[in-house]
Formats: sequence, C-alpha cells, structure tokens
Amino acid sequence: MKAIILFDSKTSGGSTDKLIDSIGRKLAETGAYVEKAKCKSTGDYSFVKEFDLVIMGAPIYYLLVSSELLGALLQSNLKSCLEGKKIALFLTCGSPELMANLLYLPQLKLNLIGSTIITEKIFAPNQLSDPAVIAKYVDDMNEAYRKAER
Ligand SMILES: Cc1cc2nc3c(=O)[nH]c(=O)nc-3n(C[C@H](O)[C@H](O)[C@H](O)COP(=O)(O)O)c2cc1C
Repeated sequence: MKAIILFDSKTSGGSTDKLIDSIGRKLAETGAYVEKAKCKSTGDYSFVKEFDLVIMGAPIYYLLVSSELLGALLQSNLKSCLEGKKIALFLTCGSPELMANLLYLPQLKLNLIGSTIITEKIFAPNQLSDPAVIAKYVDDMNEAYRKAER
C-alpha cells in the first residue's frame, strides 16, 4: 500500500509535525510505503494519484482547520485528485472530542462529499505523543483500508 500524509501546521516542529512522523513510522512498520507533503492552498496535487491511501489532517487554530489544508480543498485540484482514493482524516486540537466532532471535522468532511473516508480521529493534546493511541489509529486505518478493498 502506498500512503501519503497531507498535512498543514503553522508550527514547524510542533505537535502536528511530530504526530505525522509517528503515524508515518508506525504505518511503515506495517509494510506500507509512506510519504508526507505539507499542503499549500494553491498547490498542484496531481502527485496524489500515485497513492492508494491519503491521510489528511491539520490543527485547529481559532475554530478553523489550518488554512492551507482547508484552502487546498477549496481552491486547488486536490479534491479531484482524491477521486477513488481511500482517505483517513485526523485533527489535532485543544477542544474536547465532542466539540471537535461537531465543529471541526465537518469543515473537512463537507469538502469531501462523495469521497471514501475510511477512518477519522481527533487527537487531544494528551494523546499526541501517546504511542498506544497512535498505534491504534494506524491499526484501525489498516483494518478499514482492508475492509474497503473488499
Ligand atoms: C493560536 C492558536 C489557536 C488555537 N485555536 C484552537 C481552537 O480554536 N480550538 C481548538 O480546539 N484548539 C485550538 N488550538 C490548539 C491547537 O489546535 C493544538 O494545540 C494543536 O495541537 C497545535 O498544532 P501545532 O503544534 O502543529 O501548531 C489553538 C492553538 C493555537 C496555538
């Protein structure tokens, strides 16, 4: 399986950077080929077509999904390049999960109507560097990927 992690964060070396490195490492340990790419709202996402699984996520700043990822979904060719792909979503934020599910995840999902979202996860601050939580996210993603393949 070839996976790409598409992410955004305003904080270089911050919690999202560390999280995606942990996700990528764990997924690679399960045999996947993994790359990562930081989003730009005006980017060309044709390269996404080479991948089977697209893991997509970003932090929340001031109630909004970080702007380059949201912008890429709204303004670039990303959405069309996601056609037929399996998508795993994640968000990093400081809010409780219920609020994040109601307020933040829909910002991504409303821009992904018609896409195949196989899993989604809100990472609370205390979960960001918890190996067990990250391992479970990756295991759930692998299982959901296999199910969606059938
Ligand atoms: C300026 C700023 C604004 C934030 N606004 C929100 C917010 O509105 N809702 C929320 O749940 N978390 C908010 N957070 C928490 C971040 O989403 C969370 O700490 C995230 O892990 C930061 O990722 P980063 O280290 O990659 O920047 C905010 C953090 C910062 C620094």
